[in-house]
Amino acid sequence: MKDTLIIEGGYPLYGQVRVSGAKNAGLVLMVASIMAEGETILDNVPRIRDVEVLIKILEDLGVSTRWNEDGSLSLYSPSGGLRSKTSYELAKQLRASNLFLGALLGRQKEAAVSLPGGCDIGSRPMDLHIKGIQALGAEVSLEHGFIYARAKSPRGGRVYLDFPSVGATENIMMMAALTPGQSIIENVAKEPEIVDLANFLNSMGARIRGAGTDIIKVEGVESLRGGRYAIIPDRIEAGTFMIAAAITGGEVLVENVIPTHLHPISAKLQETGALVRETDKGILVKGIENIAPVDIKTLPYPGFPTDMQSQMVALLCLARGSSVVVENVFENRFQVVDELKRMGARIKVEGHTAVIEGVNGLLGARVKATDLRAGAALILAALAAHGSTVIEEAVHIFRGYENIEDKLRSIGAHVLR
Ligand code: UD1
Repeated sequence: MKDTLIIEGGYPLYGQVRVSGAKNAGLVLMVASIMAEGETILDNVPRIRDVEVLIKILEDLGVSTRWNEDGSLSLYSPSGGLRSKTSYELAKQLRASNLFLGALLGRQKEAAVSLPGGCDIGSRPMDLHIKGIQALGAEVSLEHGFIYARAKSPRGGRVYLDFPSVGATENIMMMAALTPGQSIIENVAKEPEIVDLANFLNSMGARIRGAGTDIIKVEGVESLRGGRYAIIPDRIEAGTFMIAAAITGGEVLVENVIPTHLHPISAKLQETGALVRETDKGILVKGIENIAPVDIKTLPYPGFPTDMQSQMVALLCLARGSSVVVENVFENRFQVVDELKRMGARIKVEGHTAVIEGVNGLLGARVKATDLRAGAALILAALAAHGSTVIEEAVHIFRGYENIEDKLRSIGAHVLR
């Protein structure tokens, strides 16, 4: 039962809540740390399940890790080289383990990564990652569920991504950082986590320009050095708390945010009528009684993030009218709909589109978190519902939200684990 959350709904949330370091930046920076020999210290690494799994993978490869008293994470990569194959048992628990492909190729010119697991939100292929590392001289084969890659004489190259994949951009950028010559990667992802990775690698001695735009140019260097770096705040966690304020009709100051990273979310939340104000301490969100319906299309950054789609659907269940939500990034992101319907939501899904007809109220029910963001959406629905909601398989939520129950409780939610 410890992976079950019980929420008594109907209490507006008030107060302030502090956002943790970004899961998706933390994971890739931890992986990238292996590209330098010696010690790297990361600040703001969230204490979440995905990070715990990644620490096990790193240790399995030969990295020593330690949580320091000040909350930072030390990662020590020995000079003698690392194991270059990730274990299937560990990698299947974490999609981001595929990022070792670029990091290991950069550092020791060979890598074998298990085809990854993680959230079941779509087919999540690796073709773009592979195309990119091949353009930089890697030979790749797929055998027994592993991607084997070796680069005998890697050299800078030119890559055009058919879709701005976050993971592919990160893998290619990491390999390119330690590949001789210039690499040009076009139509890359522009997510803030990409910029954080480039800044981190540059702080280690890499020469990367253009992160945050459509084209990234990398001049390969011979080696990277360890150092200390602070991870950006988690914009998805922030967005989730912003909706928690809106859906309960409360007022919450969400602290430790980079407001520009939140603009795609703030803009949509404002369209629903919620009050969103940037202050020097964070983002203040105030809910209103009559939530207006809005239409949303998920898109790569700076479009509306797919990682906030389920949470927004939860909010729109209570809007005064119909909203249309189109999912353009992951095909299975509407699994949450059936769970929300158990709480009284009226939603129709046709392919990539959900039509949500607002209802006057939701009712607590027994539901199941099918993936990380679906779980977050169920928490939000439960906070606004009448009666109590039991969320099973909440382990998905703990993969990505640090201390979620404590944080929610601190702003007045009635939550039990
Ligand atoms: C990352 C995030 C995830 C977020 C997603 C989109 C991490 C650890 N995870 O996942 O939280 O939801 O970005 O913002 O950072 N694709 C291909 N071929 C490829 C790679 C991707 O077709 O080789 C497709 C995928 O199927 C998907 C789309 O591209 O439809 C986006 O995927 P991608 O940006 O790669 O997501 P991830 O890096 O897996």
